[in-house]
Amino acid sequence: MDLPPGPRAPAVWQTLAWMTRPGAFLRRVHSRFGDPATIRTYWTEEPMVLFSSPDAVRAVFRLDPQVAPAGQSWEFLRPFAGPHSILLLDGEEHIRERRLIQGPFHGERMRAFAPMIADLARRELSGWHGQVVALDRMRDLTLDIILRVVFGARDDELAHMRDVIEDSLASVRSLPWVLAMAVVRKDLGPRSPWGRFRIAVERFDAELYALLARRRAEAAGGGAGDSMLALLLEARDEHGNPSSDQHLRDQLVALLVGGHDSSAASLAWAFELLARHPEVQARLREGEPGYVDAVVKEVLRARPALTIAPRRLLEPAEIAGRRIPAGVQVAACLWLACRRDDLWERAGEFRPERWLDGNPDHPAPNPVSWIPFGGGVRRCAGAPFAEMEMREVLRAAAGVTLRPARPEPEHARRSMLVLTPHRGGEIVAG
Ligand code: HEM
Repeated sequence: MDLPPGPRAPAVWQTLAWMTRPGAFLRRVHSRFGDPATIRTYWTEEPMVLFSSPDAVRAVFRLDPQVAPAGQSWEFLRPFAGPHSILLLDGEEHIRERRLIQGPFHGERMRAFAPMIADLARRELSGWHGQVVALDRMRDLTLDIILRVVFGARDDELAHMRDVIEDSLASVRSLPWVLAMAVVRKDLGPRSPWGRFRIAVERFDAELYALLARRRAEAAGGGAGDSMLALLLEARDEHGNPSSDQHLRDQLVALLVGGHDSSAASLAWAFELLARHPEVQARLREGEPGYVDAVVKEVLRARPALTIAPRRLLEPAEIAGRRIPAGVQVAACLWLACRRDDLWERAGEFRPERWLDGNPDHPAPNPVSWIPFGGGVRRCAGAPFAEMEMREVLRAAAGVTLRPARPEPEHARRSMLVLTPHRGGEIVAG
């Protein structure tokens, strides 16, 4: 197979580097082999060709879904995500689902959730004194935000929902578990990985269907409350039909899978970086709205939580002048596009100022390479929500002084789909 060059190390080594030092691994692959480069890991059955230059990235995002379906790259999530999941669909079905799921993420409807998020963020940050592991705190906070704002869970429903979700996600988050499940997709009893996973998903489904039944009953009485679920309950497809419970369940799970770990990881990085940049904290305290926005953009650029947007090639395709054979994965490498030295001035530095208009020190960044949310028809459906959530948390954090717990900056490590600070973002607050 004529593939672009890449590391010759056995797949097991590449997998280890991909998991434990993903940032360093991608940097090394790029500096040694350029763009594109081919890596081989146990992450996917096929070799993966990474692209990061603007033209190539655009070409990957424009690939015909019939030739390069994205759903097949998420196939391992099917047992949890469900058959209606936007994550697994392609083509017409995907577009139809996207229209439904994106409804609540627009304009006024979405902005109406900001005060609720701000309130949850302030409550969380007001408890920060002394040493904090930002990732742990942000996992709790972003889950609470999803449960309340997206699922519409009430006080008495929260604790229970939190437990069953944590149980299911614990299996999906851990690579050894996922690999073990992929190899033995058989229920070898309640202690086998697959068996435990199935039980966790069944418990989760039972809770979720009960919650759906309660919200549906309330909606029929005219008061399902303010949540994205309430909006999804109102949504109708092109034939005027409401979504079934099974469909709504898969929508909520897609929003949970897409929006929980990615937001928690991005916010953990925000704290890791802020703790090392007192000048950025000081400016945030001044409360200028454009600056909060610039910090969010720069966190997402300097530490994109998702490294790749992969597609499986079913037919040969030409990408930025390279012919790539069928049967491999091609990916826009979000991490490299956001961090390559030749695409960004002083790429390695955390400089929110680069996003401010009229900054004489910097030419305006090239937005084509700012792709932490991916691009094309599969660009993150929750991007406006994620940015709003980050802005509200950073505003709430402006009142707290943050310092790093240790002098050495944290490097990236992989937690399933996302990259997190390797110590979880250890900071001292107060
Ligand atoms: C900072 C946080 C986030 C980051 C970095 C992020 C990143 C991404 C990326 C890169 C993709 C595209 C993957 C691809 O092209 O294959 C994606 C898809 C998606 N994201 Fe996000 N995301 C974030 C937060 C959220 C939130 C908060 C939600 C919802 C509440 C969400 C829901 C989704 C959904 C539903 C998709 C699938 C879209 C589709 O297939 O059409 N994401 N996200």
